Amino acid sequence: MKVLICPDRDAAIERAKGIIIDHVNAKPKAVLGLATGGTMVPLYERLVSAYQAGAVSFAGVTTFNLDEYIGIPPEHPCSYHTYMRDILFQHIDIDQSRTHLPHGMPDDVDAEGERYEAEITAAGGISLQLLGIGKNGHIGFNEPSSSLASRTRVKTLTETTRNANRQYFPEGEETPRFALTMGIGTILDARECLLIATGADKAQAVADMIEGAVSAACPASALQFHRHATIITDQEAASQLRLTDYYQHVHPDGI
Ligand code: PGA
Repeated sequence: MKVLICPDRDAAIERAKGIIIDHVNAKPKAVLGLATGGTMVPLYERLVSAYQAGAVSFAGVTTFNLDEYIGIPPEHPCSYHTYMRDILFQHIDIDQSRTHLPHGMPDDVDAEGERYEAEITAAGGISLQLLGIGKNGHIGFNEPSSSLASRTRVKTLTETTRNANRQYFPEGEETPRFALTMGIGTILDARECLLIATGADKAQAVADMIEGAVSAACPASALQFHRHATIITDQEAASQLRLTDYYQHVHPDGI
């Protein structure tokens, strides 16, 4: 794992932006795996600014999002379809027909998981998968105890995750209990993974992911098996790591 500890959140987001832009500029037909959540908002804003400044084009890019809530239609204001459209897709030159998310209200959820996997394969596989991490170590919505070999399927969300997501839903509206998510096996198939973690509330999950045992108890720890995984953190999210001096020695200030 390449561990890049940046001085602060801004620097971490800027570092991630640079990696994504370099990837797309080197591979104009890149297949990006995309994530949602609060961490990604400033990153997508910066990608939009970079596009507007002419530093990158997404015209040839294909995207696959990690997950979508079950029981929420794409046009729902709190769906990840809406999140992606509002924050990223409508502001860049991507061909909307090449943006993919699992459908949250499929006729058959098992078939939807298989369909999504087949679409990823047909696109040639994911060249760069962007990831956040939950406080409980989840990646995508692969909650603790998820099979490390799992593929796209339905997962029941933990109460920790539901509580974290409650802020995005109007008061009184029930937060979804289920989601369709790429599996850990799906994520590990990406040719490159880029995980971003900022803030002190991610520190324990980050330590478990990088320095703990590979275990379904911390789904993100499966990235230890990936040959090209980069973890970008700020100082706060890195605060529980034991080998900080080493990571800083290899990549001072996350550079
Ligand atoms: P966050 O979500 O960026 O909103 O913290 C990350 C995640 O749960 O994967």
